[in-house]
Amino acid sequence: MTRGRVGTSAKRIGLLGAGTVGSALCELIGEADLNAAITQVLVRDPEKARAGCVPHRALTTDADAVLENSDVVVELMGGTGLASELMLRALAAGKRVVTANKAVLAEQWDAFSPFLEAGTLYFEAAVMAGTPTVGPLSGALRGSKPQELHAILNGTCNYILGELEAGAEFKDALNEAQRLGYAEADPSLDVGGFDAAHKLTILGRLAFDPALSWEAVKANTHGIGHLTPAIVKEAMEDGGRLRLVGSIYPEEGRWRAAVRPVYLPPEHPLSGSASNRNGLLFKGDAVGEVLITGAGAGAAPTASAVLADLLDALAERPGPRPLQRSAPVPEGYEAQPLGEVLLVGEPS
Ligand code: NAP
Ligand code: HSE
Repeated sequence: MTRGRVGTSAKRIGLLGAGTVGSALCELIGEADLNAAITQVLVRDPEKARAGCVPHRALTTDADAVLENSDVVVELMGGTGLASELMLRALAAGKRVVTANKAVLAEQWDAFSPFLEAGTLYFEAAVMAGTPTVGPLSGALRGSKPQELHAILNGTCNYILGELEAGAEFKDALNEAQRLGYAEADPSLDVGGFDAAHKLTILGRLAFDPALSWEAVKANTHGIGHLTPAIVKEAMEDGGRLRLVGSIYPEEGRWRAAVRPVYLPPEHPLSGSASNRNGLLFKGDAVGEVLITGAGAGAAPTASAVLADLLDALAERPGPRPLQRSAPVPEGYEAQPLGEVLLVGEPS
């Protein structure tokens, strides 16, 4: 065993992935006083140079060994293939699983449903990294009937849009977002709006409709690939900003979810989000407007939420509670999808 406290009662953590987030998690675990230790770490290439905090002797390419030698599994490898298979195997074997993988949850929610019901799956880091959203939407905000939600959910796009405002070329801004550890392994998920759509789907299922379909959200998703410094600067002439925003709001008696680049007027609560910072504006009948902002991408902020979930998993506290039935779609409610919002350009 490596990292963390070792003793007869110490729990064994199996880590799937030691890239941007996994390495940062190793560092946080090394500094934390856990009655647990990382036993094995699944990677593609054990010879690759890694941060010193990653327990090198624990690196393996043997996924079965990681599952066998762990009590709790933390999945930080990404993707909807092997990551999903390993998580489901661990969950079926009665282990608690922590993940930051929004793609797999958005696209394969039903497969994970029994474990969501059992409270053995934890995923705060999957949406807005270390800035809490899953917790509030599956907890405190359930006391109000939801009316609408608007959120900046992708740090890479937000960073790129900020760089375009400063006159940078799109490809240079994306390269820098990748260097900073914000982007997905396949950055077309970020730029095409799909990563934000994955996150919006998860939030929608937690607060609006547990049956919200990934395909429906995907069909209403537009990215930022067509934006240029000139388009972004023109929007700024009125004092506002272009941002990629995911929204859920009532329309014609049902919940509608969409992701699109929009013009936010300067007074809009989300227009201040810059760089990798994300923001979520929730409106509920009793609670009114609630604004949550903070870092939405990056190694340390994401690892922070993973560690918080890991603490819950180790203590056997239940994960987020799934929503049991659709929230009523408000009748006669005039949704204000971002006030003076403009959909800019053609879908990318
Ligand atoms: P990453 O840097 O690409 O790291 C992925 C890790 O998984 C690497 O260690 C890689 O091994 C390993 N891996 C991938 N496929 C594998 C396979 N088939 N077999 C064995 N090992 C494999 O990704 P990341 O940025 O840390 O993101 C990890 C997860 O967190 C993703 O689901 C992502 O969406 C999510 N997330 C990321 C952020 C962020 O800001 N980066 C924020 C929130 C959530 P090698 O090192 O050997 O290549
Ligand atoms: N690629 C994601 C983003 C990572 O840029 O927001 C955080 O989920």
